[in-house]
Amino acid sequence: MTVQTLDPLAVLNQDATRPATEAANLIDRLSREHWLSREMWVKVLSGFVLEDRLYAAMLARRTARKQFGNGIYMRALIEFSNICKNNCYYCGIRAGNLEVARYRLDQEEIVAAARQADTLGYRTIVLQSGDDPHYTRDLLVSIVKAIRAELPEMAMTLSVGERPREVYEAFFRAGADRYLLRQETSSPLHYTKLHPVRMSMHTRHAALHDLKEIGYQTGAGFMVGSPGQRPEELAEDYLFIQDLRPQMIGVGPFLPHHATPFKDEPPGSLDLTLFCLSLLRLLDPAVNLPATTAMGTIHPTGREQAILSGANVLMPNLTPTANRPLYTLYDNKICLDDDADTCQGCLSGRLRNIGYEMSASRGDNYANITVMK
Ligand code: 5AD
Ligand code: FES
Repeated sequence: MTVQTLDPLAVLNQDATRPATEAANLIDRLSREHWLSREMWVKVLSGFVLEDRLYAAMLARRTARKQFGNGIYMRALIEFSNICKNNCYYCGIRAGNLEVARYRLDQEEIVAAARQADTLGYRTIVLQSGDDPHYTRDLLVSIVKAIRAELPEMAMTLSVGERPREVYEAFFRAGADRYLLRQETSSPLHYTKLHPVRMSMHTRHAALHDLKEIGYQTGAGFMVGSPGQRPEELAEDYLFIQDLRPQMIGVGPFLPHHATPFKDEPPGSLDLTLFCLSLLRLLDPAVNLPATTAMGTIHPTGREQAILSGANVLMPNLTPTANRPLYTLYDNKICLDDDADTCQGCLSGRLRNIGYEMSASRGDNYANITVMK
């Protein structure tokens, strides 16, 4: 096959031919019915070849184009604390990593970053942190209210870990619209290989159901190629997602971090991650699917390849430049030295290069939400 030596963007930009494979049958079925059985998921995830991946990418890209045109939704990411009480084995800011200098932004600094996002024209902010108890319910409610008062039109996404349901409700009442909480894996045994015993997959899955019931646009997601993950484990993530029906799904390859127990584990595969994104687009045509920073880290054009495989969201980093290097979940994370303006210029150039542009829309997705504000 010569295709691997070609520019991956050029390959993805062409129409693919439908291979006569069992995987292609399943890909067609998924795009028709938006549902597969456990056996089918395992089969498509384990038995695919490059031609299947390119075929799925073409269908996913067309689906996304039909849904969103050539506009890519932008989410300004503000990583406001790298302090975490947890010890996930994969994560560079785990409590057990004593190498990293820790920081917290105060309310004023967070509001200032939100203001900068607004000035740059972004209409969604994502407030993300480690699982940091300093940011109590009342403090986060106060931050959300302060931003809401100043920027009434801004979509506000929280990504601050597992909290009791009543706390999610308080954030929602204060004005948060969306919540990101990746499930990371949906196999109970695999969950115990990635996390210490005090963390539970059932708590996490239950939290996702709570968030969705409360009325948040809810984001789930998983890493591809985390240690011990086989097609059987990945299939469980697809079953979980096709049951939960979240409005957003964050997916990227596992990447090792040198100061974690997984430092010597191999990274996830770019090909498999791209295929996973295409399958998610075909599973839910309207879902918001970011081309994640991890995609841009594993390959110089990883995010562009993700968009050409069905992703429709980009998340420029608006964390103050001085703090960025301290929020390294994995080694070699990109965009650490750039300021917010540079990121914007870089991303719009990358999008133009593949025939897309930044969308000025908030990019809400109210599908499958029963309780609405
Ligand atoms: N490699 C890739 N992704 C990671 N994340 C955390 N650590 C890593 C890693 N080593 C992801 C998790 C988390 C999100 C914020 O970043 O999926 O939910
Ligand atoms: Fe912070 Fe896992 S190490 S939530």
